[in-house]
Amino acid sequence: MQIGIIGTGYVGLVTGACFADLGHTVLCIDNNKEKIAQLKKGKVPFYEPELEGLVMTNIGEKRLAFSTSIAECVKKCEIIFICVGTPPLPNGEADLSAIEHVCIEIANHMKRYHLIVEKSTVPVKTGEWVQQTLKKHVRKGVQYDVASNPEFLREGSAIKDAAHPDRIILGVASDRAAMLLVKLYEPLNAPLLITDIKSAELIKHTANAFLALKISFINAVANVCERTGANVMKVAKGIGMDKRIGQDFLSPGIGYGGSCFPKDVSAYIKLCEKIGYDFKLLKEVEIINYNQRRSIINKLKAALGKLRGKKIALLGLAFKPNTDDMRGAASLDIIKILQKEKASIAAYDPVAMKNASHVVKNVMFCKDVYSSLEGADAAIVVTEWGEFSHLDLPRAKKAMKKPIIIDGRNIFEPKKMQKLGFKYWGVGHSK
Ligand code: UGA
Repeated sequence: MQIGIIGTGYVGLVTGACFADLGHTVLCIDNNKEKIAQLKKGKVPFYEPELEGLVMTNIGEKRLAFSTSIAECVKKCEIIFICVGTPPLPNGEADLSAIEHVCIEIANHMKRYHLIVEKSTVPVKTGEWVQQTLKKHVRKGVQYDVASNPEFLREGSAIKDAAHPDRIILGVASDRAAMLLVKLYEPLNAPLLITDIKSAELIKHTANAFLALKISFINAVANVCERTGANVMKVAKGIGMDKRIGQDFLSPGIGYGGSCFPKDVSAYIKLCEKIGYDFKLLKEVEIINYNQRRSIINKLKAALGKLRGKKIALLGLAFKPNTDDMRGAASLDIIKILQKEKASIAAYDPVAMKNASHVVKNVMFCKDVYSSLEGADAAIVVTEWGEFSHLDLPRAKKAMKKPIIIDGRNIFEPKKMQKLGFKYWGVGHSK
């Protein structure tokens, strides 16, 4: 099948490369000329394991191509996926202007039947609005369908998630749209749920909100553990053994970040306000999340006293391991607070330092983790990169001015750290 993908961010590029790998012919579109020029050479503009190889292979096999022309995409492709960004507006609502712009351009070029599929995360009822926008601009007599096919891939494991999804959600309003999408996904052999468009849109938003809720829930329990002497890791394991609860997304820590959970929880709250429902539970999810950042600083102050003039090493900057994405990263909140308290910051991240240097100032970026620890009054583990768990701890201790570690991701064993002479604080267990 001939597939068009508009928007070559995480979702668009990974989806395009995976469809091509399934044997479909894919044309990916972006309005960023430089990005498209690089992609034509197989250069992926962000760090995602396995993606560059997949893009290269499929360009080589002539199944994957890139262009800046929506007109070309509409001419060649019957099914067009909209994968452009829906960033938050200052009031927390999702900004749908890029979707609107793309819809108008698609409509202006449509001469035969097309299936327009929303893959970007959008508030419920966006499909209706897409339908109306297309109707306003499309030539008389041209047939089309709108569908919602949300994506559930995670950064850092995007290829695996897209190639082996738990489920494919197809929100459709016609049999023709359903049949096209079922055929498209057939080679994946994944469980399918065919539903209406609004429910599909809400499934995506609700899945992210629920996962964020799980994280905030276990972080709230971590606070209970710190005040009672229980161990949150054990509690998470114990409750997760109940199949109804499950082990996933119960890792306590510094709070969720990224380009999805913070934006989607806040857009969900806004959407509910608009329809007259006060979703207080989700508001609390946000509050708990931010308090986790603050709680790291409180532990640092308990260990060090005043932070003015102290050198703090940050281990990790990206919002999670295996990505260079800094959007919504906990490190940004931590840096802001530390700088307000006049501490100096030395940071190391295996892949995110370049991106970080575009969004933070007055941070010393170090060539390796031991350089960041050199002369540090304390270190904070912000991102649980594998290399930090395998740190040469005696060497780290020697490099530091004071052996204080605030572990925002519980990567170290408290007893071992104490034995090695560290003053160690994790999340959700007494010291
Ligand atoms: C998330 C969802 O997991 C995907 O299913 C969804 O497709 C994607 O958003 C999206 O909407 O595009 P992603 O943001 O890439 O994926 O990353 P996650 O692995 O979900 O992690 C999000 C944040 O939660 C990270 O900051 C991570 O450190 C944090 N987290 C995750 C925890 O603090 N504890 C956990 O147990 C799990």
